[in-house]
Order: sequence, then C-alpha cells, then structure tokens
Amino acid sequence: MIREDRYITFALGKGRLAKQTLELFEKIGITCEEMKDKDTRRLIFVNENLRLRFFLAKGPDVPTYVEYGAADIGVVGKDTILEEGRNIYEVLDLGFGRCRMCVCGPTGAGDLLQHHELIRVATKYPRIAKDYFYNKKHQTVEIIKLNGSIELAPIVGLSEVIVDIVETGSTLRENGLGVLEEVCPLSARMVVNQVSLKMENERITRLITDLKSVLKQ
Ligand code: PRP
Repeated sequence: MIREDRYITFALGKGRLAKQTLELFEKIGITCEEMKDKDTRRLIFVNENLRLRFFLAKGPDVPTYVEYGAADIGVVGKDTILEEGRNIYEVLDLGFGRCRMCVCGPTGAGDLLQHHELIRVATKYPRIAKDYFYNKKHQTVEIIKLNGSIELAPIVGLSEVIVDIVETGSTLRENGLGVLEEVCPLSARMVVNQVSLKMENERITRLITDLKSVLKQ
C-alpha cells in the first residue's frame, strides 16, 4: 500500500518575518511559489510535492494555531511566544528579527527603578512586563496595556516608563528616551505543536536539522 504523507501545516507571522522565513526555507529546498504572488488574496498556499501547506497569520495568533494543532509548525517572535504563554515547543532560534525587550524612559526615570517606587509601566506586553517587575525585580508596579506607539506614554505623562521592543533604538532617540534596563534578547523562533512533534517526528526533526545546518553557515 502506498502511504501518502499527510500535509504539514506552517503558520507564519505576517510581514517581515514571513518573508525572511521563506528565504531561509528556500535554502533547504522548501519553496512555495504561490505565496510570492503579491496580488493574491488567497490565505493558504500549498506545495503538493513536499506535502506542505503555509498560511499567514497575525503574530499573536501563531502560537494559538500551533497549540490547537491547526498548524503543526509556527514561526514567530520570541516576544509573542513569551506574551502568549501557549503550550507549544520552541525548537529553534532562526537568528533573524534580532532585537531586545527593554524597560525604557527618560533618563531621570532610572532612579525610580533603583528605589522600587510604585510606578506606572505602559506596554503592549503586560505578561512580560509583569514577569519582569514582579518575579525578577520584586517591584510592585501598575501595568497599563497599550496597543502601539508605546513611546508616547512617558512623553504625555501616561506612565513613568515603558516595556517595549528596541531594534535600532532610533524611535527612542528621536523622542528623547533611552534604554534603562534590558529584559531579554529576542529573535524569530520556530515553534511546534506537541502532538505533531511526536506523530511527525521524522519529518519535523529532518526539517530542524536542515535548518540548523544552513543557519551555521
Ligand atoms: C516597534 C517597537 C518600537 C520600534 C522599535 O514598533 O514597538 O516602537 O518598533 O524599533 P527601533 O528601535 O528600530 O526604533 P512598531 O514599528 O512595530 O509599531 P508599534 O509602535 O505600533 O508597536
């Protein structure tokens, strides 16, 4: 009996990460021509020969698709993995999308962090901020959730500091803010559904091994 491999499904975080992921996959012979068509409105793309499917999702939704097994594999930023706290395996650092999660603010706010003052912290990442202040620094703070342009918060007086992603640092510099403390380094990671890793162990392990070998070069 001929056994047809089942499809392995990838959820990729929309935008730059997806583009860089596909470039990396091409280096190990995994291509998806359908996905390169910029005008397409299709949501799911298939490579019939390799029995692979790909779809694009909002970053924070990628761990959700992977936890429930709607995708076997996901590619998403470490920030999103930490913030979503899903039951998934993180199997590989893909090395791109490197940046840092930092506590930032005006220089004067540094003192508030040393003396454990009750301060307000604005962030898109309340879970990461809570873990950092409560569990690592043992400082009680008020966390205020925002959805973007976080750097505005200390400028307009919403909070004393922010917890946010710093890549080049230019957003901070152009707004008179700076890094006060580093929370953790970030980059794109590959995540896998826990059942898929057992059921499709051979194919997924081979994929990880192939990726590791091109990442070393
Ligand atoms: C991210 C992040 C910072 C900025 C950091 O925001 O929240 O604002 O990029 O990059 P830099 O250090 O190179 O200046 P993004 O552009 O994703 O938009 P957002 O403010 O809506 O979150």
